[in-house]
Amino acid sequence: MQPTYSEVKAGWDRAAATDPNPAIHPAGAHGNIAYNESGEKDSQYIIATLLRYGFVDLSNDSIIDFGSGNGRVTKPISHQFKKVYAVDFSYSMLQQLPQEGNIVPVLAVDNWFGLSELVDYAFSISVFIHNNFDSGVKVMKSISDNLKSGGLALLQIPIYDQNTIGQHWTDVSTWTIDQLTSACEFAGFEMVEVVTNPGTFAYDKIGPNHHCLQVLRKL
Ligand SMILES: C[S@@+](CC[C@H](N)C(=O)[O-])C[C@H]1O[C@@H](n2cnc3c(N)ncnc32)[C@H](O)[C@@H]1O
Repeated sequence: MQPTYSEVKAGWDRAAATDPNPAIHPAGAHGNIAYNESGEKDSQYIIATLLRYGFVDLSNDSIIDFGSGNGRVTKPISHQFKKVYAVDFSYSMLQQLPQEGNIVPVLAVDNWFGLSELVDYAFSISVFIHNNFDSGVKVMKSISDNLKSGGLALLQIPIYDQNTIGQHWTDVSTWTIDQLTSACEFAGFEMVEVVTNPGTFAYDKIGPNHHCLQVLRKL
């Protein structure tokens, strides 16, 4: 049966309390250097995407890292921005974030969070894939509610021909393009750059765009 929100949260809380890195990213199984390098690489990819869209003065801007975990990407990306809001439902994960002055931990509750200001950008890596569609839609709306109009959200949401529903909290869920379209309509996003994977999701045959970030613009 599909895990509930509480079961998914309990899984991440347990991982945070024991050995979070291998649960957060495959590189975590190969030591801290590999883990940190993977975060640096993801951070550079996000920055390159924002630059490509003409956002060049990032040091005056703020960004949301939704499902930050213990800061694998939050830390390297924080050097480029005025402020990074690191949002997660696991208090234990947030406690392990690096103590950088411009990283602001924010606890999400029931897929909702609120900031004291509207921000310029948001990204989310390996979060939607571990949630059911209903949670994903709420997260998307919450991100949208905290973004400035015209702000970009870069979200890892793998799109296949069929909706895959994970049976365990670490399983991968995927969306169809129709699901993404309806979620964007609900959350108030324009789909700017969306990449899809052909066929049905299978662990041993991950699609070429599985790890890509969908680029959405807040209307
Ligand atoms: C696979 S880890 C990825 C962490 C980080 N994004 C990275 O790439 O290193 C997933 C993280 O998202 C958080 N998370 C998952 N579902 C969430 C939800 N519905 N609301 C808030 N946080 C969530 C978990 O607690 C965990 O820290």
